[in-house]
Amino acid sequence: MKKIVLSSYNKNIIRALRSLHVENCALAQPKENEVLIKVHAAPCNPSDIAFLMGDYNIVKEVPTVPGFEGSGIVVEAGEGAEDLIDRKVSFFIQEEKCGSWSEYIISNRSKLVVLDDDMNMDQAACFAINPFTARGLLDIALLRDNHAVIQNAAGGQVAAFVRQMAGEMDIEVIDIVRKEETVARLKREGAKHVLLESDLQFEEKLKELAGKLDARLAFDAVGGTLAGQIFNAMPYDAELVSYGGLSTKYISGIDPMGLIFHDKIISGFNLPEWREQMDDDFFEQVSTEMQAQFISGKFQTKIQGSVDFDNIGDGLIHCLRNLSKGKMLIKANS
Ligand SMILES: NC(=O)c1ccc[n+]([C@@H]2O[C@H](COP(=O)([O-])OP(=O)(O)OC[C@H]3O[C@@H](n4cnc5c(N)ncnc54)[C@H](OP(=O)(O)O)[C@@H]3O)[C@@H](O)[C@H]2O)c1
Repeated sequence: MKKIVLSSYNKNIIRALRSLHVENCALAQPKENEVLIKVHAAPCNPSDIAFLMGDYNIVKEVPTVPGFEGSGIVVEAGEGAEDLIDRKVSFFIQEEKCGSWSEYIISNRSKLVVLDDDMNMDQAACFAINPFTARGLLDIALLRDNHAVIQNAAGGQVAAFVRQMAGEMDIEVIDIVRKEETVARLKREGAKHVLLESDLQFEEKLKELAGKLDARLAFDAVGGTLAGQIFNAMPYDAELVSYGGLSTKYISGIDPMGLIFHDKIISGFNLPEWREQMDDDFFEQVSTEMQAQFISGKFQTKIQGSVDFDNIGDGLIHCLRNLSKGKMLIKANS
């Protein structure tokens, strides 16, 4: 089988991407509760970018095969997983030596989302992480009984799912983006409150809107000073949930008075921990409900294109410059 290999981490992402190359290796055999999956496609997410740079929470021994997520069909199974043969699956694998940018992968059955036969396999490649992340973030809003939330990186895919799901939960969303073209796109798509972070009156506008809508919850994927500005703009008893560090900058500029006198807090969200806390039956229920939304076409991950193994470097460099245009899927050469 063929796999994409990263020989060494590189802080220069362009160099890291250019260094990716294809290698051949023997197929592994699934052990107890494991399956062998023929991978259909795998996306390149911000976590993969951070991983290639050696900046992610997970650092594997190199050489390694990147990729935390994907879709495929189970072609072989170890003892205790035979029922999964021929099933379509999405998977979220973090610790395995061989990641999803590979023709085949081995996964424990616990890392799989078993799919309805009608699920589109390109959509399935981006199903195991972002839609569940959006759902997990909105669970915080439901628990806190918040009816308005603020989110940055709002042109991205997690944010798009937050907007769609929030609409169904009667939760208002204040979207923050960094490009004027993204403001225009989100408005065309029906987003009600979109702010441009470089607007000279950004902080005043955000504070006014957060007060008016009583937005006491924010989902921060950026960090840096933007996270601090959002924290400071929110009313009393607000929570800033950090779930991404796209700016690669520490959260800064927090007004300590907010923490001391206004009962505001900062917390973090991590999908695997959310999943672990979840009862398996409830996870199945959420997964089935979300798959139905994908099959009907109501929920879709925006996909900007696909790249084969031989052209992976150029394809991913192109996508880096256009993250809001959607996910780039990596597919083995046909
Ligand atoms: N904690 C968890 O469990 C968890 C799970 C899933 C995802 N995440 C995180 O969620 C974040 C979003 O993921 P995604 O898949 O939705 O990403 P995505 O679809 O690739 O979109 C990223 C978005 O962020 C914007 N962006 C990038 N760098 C930025 C910066 N420095 N300042 C402001 N905006 C910036 C991009 O805008 P432009 O078009 O302007 O570049 C784009 O709209 C990532 O940080 C990811 O790691 C966390």
